[in-house]
Amino acid sequence: MKAQLESIRSAALSAIAAAGTGTELEAVRVQYLGKKGELTAVLKQMGKLSPEERPIMGQMANEVRAALESAIESQGAVLAEKALADKLAAETLDVTIPGKQAEIGHKHPMYTALDGFKEIFINMGFEIIDGPEVEESDYNFTKLNTPDDHPAREWSDTFYLDEDSRILLRTQTSPMQIRAIEEHGVPIRMISPGRVYRKDEVDATHSPMFHQIEGLVVDKGITMADLKGTLNAVIREIYGAGTQTRFRPHHFPFTEPSCEVDIQCHKCGGKGCPTCKGEGWIEVLGAGMVHPKVLRNCGVDPDEYSGFAFGFGLERMAMGQFKISDLRLIFENDIRFLEQF
Ligand code: DAH
Repeated sequence: MKAQLESIRSAALSAIAAAGTGTELEAVRVQYLGKKGELTAVLKQMGKLSPEERPIMGQMANEVRAALESAIESQGAVLAEKALADKLAAETLDVTIPGKQAEIGHKHPMYTALDGFKEIFINMGFEIIDGPEVEESDYNFTKLNTPDDHPAREWSDTFYLDEDSRILLRTQTSPMQIRAIEEHGVPIRMISPGRVYRKDEVDATHSPMFHQIEGLVVDKGITMADLKGTLNAVIREIYGAGTQTRFRPHHFPFTEPSCEVDIQCHKCGGKGCPTCKGEGWIEVLGAGMVHPKVLRNCGVDPDEYSGFAFGFGLERMAMGQFKISDLRLIFENDIRFLEQF
């Protein structure tokens, strides 16, 4: 039995030393010290020994167990330390490696123009409201006093979304005049920027989708003088203090009287050049006094209230402000173009 214990001790100690992981070490422990382990099996034979031999062998067996237990414990500590070191080595970061450059976009010049525009109107006490791009022809045309036979209602000009010509992609932001009064009542001072759609071929000055900014003021005693004063102030904020304007009679179904507003060409000072196509003036918006029928269509009494409305083309404004010569550049989103502004 002594020889058996000796051989268990040396075999177990070398197995413990050879264990390379916690799992292997545990397997060695079970193999020798477990319930069905080799040392346990020897101890079970103790009963067969003579009474003189029993304490000697018992003591030796305890020594072997203690030796194995302490060897397992210290090897366990060594392995845990090694595991930690391996993990740290595997997870090291080289903080000196150059980072990946994040591509940062660029604010679109049209939105720069729009933000400037909004700021001017907010400072004048206007609200900014959003409206639907999918619109009813009632709002886009009828309530805006547009006759049934108006050419803009043709299928060749407008994107309809149903067979009965009742739902369409709005052709102008003017339906927001009606929606704004219906929702907020009068008096009102608002602008409403957004996309509009027309069946136009793409070229340097046309796109089937573009942006307008609608404006509307309704209150008691609003006159053409308010329209001119407000628009002159806005135009001089955008195009410079000395900008000359010209209010030219025009026709829109929803305003009476109506006008188009031109600014004197900033390139040639009015003499005529390629920028103004030889005219000396550049058209910047349509405007007018809200038609009494439009007010009535919104439940507002035109004998009590009056107002003015206007519509800017946002692309045209941005193109003027940033000297962009081709409308297509605005929609292509080429970063080389956008980064110039
Ligand atoms: N909606 C017009 C258009 O698309 C522009 C316009 C003209 C808007 C006169 C107005 C206005 O509010 O009063 O051509």
